Amino acid sequence: MKKDKGPYYITTPIYYPSSNLHIGHTYCTVMADAMARFKRLSGYDVRFLTGTDEHGQKIQTAAEKAGMTPQQYVDQVVAGIKDLWKTMEISNDDFIRTTEDRHKKRVQKLFMLMYENGDIYKGEYEGLYCTPCESFWTESQLVDGCCPDCGRPVQAANEEAYFFKLSKYAQPLLDLFRDNPDFLQPDTRRNEMIAFINQGLEDLCISRSTFDWGIPVPIDEKHVIYVWLDALSNYITAFGWPDEPTLYNKYWPGTHLVGKEIVRFHSIIWPAMLMSAGLPLPQQVRGHGWLLIDGGKMSKSKGNIVDPVKLIDRYGIDALKYFLLREYSFGQDGIFTNEIMLKRMNYDLANDLGNLVSRTISMIEKYCDGIIPPAGVGTDDPDLLATDDDLKNIAVSAAGKVEEQMDKFRFNLALEEIWILVRRANKYIDENTPWLLAKEEASKERLGAVMHNLAETLRIIAILIHPYMHTTTEEIRRQMGIDSKEVNWEDTFVFDMLDGEKVNKGNPIFPRLDIEKELAELEAMKVKPADDNIPLELKPEIDFETFDKLDLRVGTILSAEQHPKADKLLVFQVKMGTEKRQIISGVSPFFKKEDLVGQKVVVVANLKPRKLKGLESKGMILFADNIVDGQLRFETVTTVAEDGNPVA
Ligand code: MSP
Repeated sequence: MKKDKGPYYITTPIYYPSSNLHIGHTYCTVMADAMARFKRLSGYDVRFLTGTDEHGQKIQTAAEKAGMTPQQYVDQVVAGIKDLWKTMEISNDDFIRTTEDRHKKRVQKLFMLMYENGDIYKGEYEGLYCTPCESFWTESQLVDGCCPDCGRPVQAANEEAYFFKLSKYAQPLLDLFRDNPDFLQPDTRRNEMIAFINQGLEDLCISRSTFDWGIPVPIDEKHVIYVWLDALSNYITAFGWPDEPTLYNKYWPGTHLVGKEIVRFHSIIWPAMLMSAGLPLPQQVRGHGWLLIDGGKMSKSKGNIVDPVKLIDRYGIDALKYFLLREYSFGQDGIFTNEIMLKRMNYDLANDLGNLVSRTISMIEKYCDGIIPPAGVGTDDPDLLATDDDLKNIAVSAAGKVEEQMDKFRFNLALEEIWILVRRANKYIDENTPWLLAKEEASKERLGAVMHNLAETLRIIAILIHPYMHTTTEEIRRQMGIDSKEVNWEDTFVFDMLDGEKVNKGNPIFPRLDIEKELAELEAMKVKPADDNIPLELKPEIDFETFDKLDLRVGTILSAEQHPKADKLLVFQVKMGTEKRQIISGVSPFFKKEDLVGQKVVVVANLKPRKLKGLESKGMILFADNIVDGQLRFETVTTVAEDGNPVA
């Protein structure tokens, strides 16, 4: 019997259809899908929403570059996004596009509610704007003159605009963070948001008038509504709020799963908008970390985009989902490499789970005529009886432990709980050696008991993995001859349900991968960007006097060592003229340190020294490599004067 635990609403961010989605976006959707499936299985009435954020300057610019209208442009990218979620069998109940009428008219209603409550006024915006993040910034918020979220250059913006009195909600928001620590997790993100508010919360510009790809401001059609106000509203407009309130009344408020850089929008701006409109706040915001590649976020210009479809074609949906959910700790950044992925797939899926399934089913076929034996004991050896008890205890307590971890969005630890059981079952086989029991007529009863216990364990495992890898659940249950029954979470708490089912051996559920071969093939599949295809996003121009302040020298790298406290940092000893100095640089993901020794490099010699993870760095090395033909080449300055100066 399924429990009725009530409604549960979970959302992903709505993705920008400015280009196709990559594995980083997939990571977020896969987590939301696993949570939705987990809640459904454990008895909740779930609503799972995803969609696309289609307005704004970023999309308009992308469309212009592609020579299309914004609508044509988003239509084709969104079709690809929908296909991706279909391919991945994502179980969303709805997909909202912000260009749909059902959304646009309701965003205007929300705007009007805020306006009528006296929280919107007209003014002049003068400040900075990051188009890729669609974010407003002040000079003091920039980091090294660039967007603090994505590190890219910002543009000056100066236009007539409507403002939302965000400042008015500083104290209510602080109260929210203080009174309800579960509202935003992990704690690091909550502390960041509290610090952000404490720095002074300014009113928010919520309209743009220098381009027109957006929802018109209902009281002034020269303006379009700021894309974040438009986008955040999707979480309730998709329900039909306010004119069709059934779903809204049933499911709102819910849980927003978002990447760390957009936690601010979800835990400050969105709640403030809802406070202004007099609507209930989200129940939870959960901020996840990024998948990093080559030391940074994936980007087209770096040519390091990982296409989930290619990985699915090669390894299957479940293997990819398992890897994403098992490898990374929720809330923290994690490094993606093909090798990490392939090893995880081989060790956990082919070796641990795959072996358990094929050994168990094969032995039932071979030793029990393909029929799962009834429960039994068949021995009085206390050591063997202890293995039975241990296996059963771990099996029937696993679901409770999985629930605990899932409550905290710790997908990796939930899966680890399941894998404790998988590994225990493999050990149980080795402890009980069914192949030896099969040789003695006297051990027949014990053999039956052992095979029954293994089949029971596999039955429970197949249910436990359902939220994360439902196709594998189906395949294991098909091989066990129990696929006609409903997958029921409550059945994980009981042992001894099987008796007499006929098994059907199939192919290995996760074939073993030849890692070297796979690595070579994935490398060959990489699309390398051509230099002239890389869009340049430049910082504002500087004058010659500013440039002339740099003291550029040529140095020779004498040695390169890994920084003891940071994976990405290399510690270089560089010789310039008579001077030898230490410079630290975050280039470990891009170069092999042995390739750098002896190379000539340009050094910014008068950069103020600073400590990086405890070691002093004096200056900065300018590296250049050329990845167009896959070869690493240094742009060395060939003529060097005695004192290390480049000769013009
Ligand atoms: N359109 C906004 C969201 C509006 S929600 C009302 C947006 N879109 S996005 O397409 O840029 O990003 C969507 C999500 O993808 C974000 O949560 C972001 O953190 C996530 N990711 C994008 N690249 C990522 C990684 N490399 N790793 C993990 N998640 C990443 O922001």
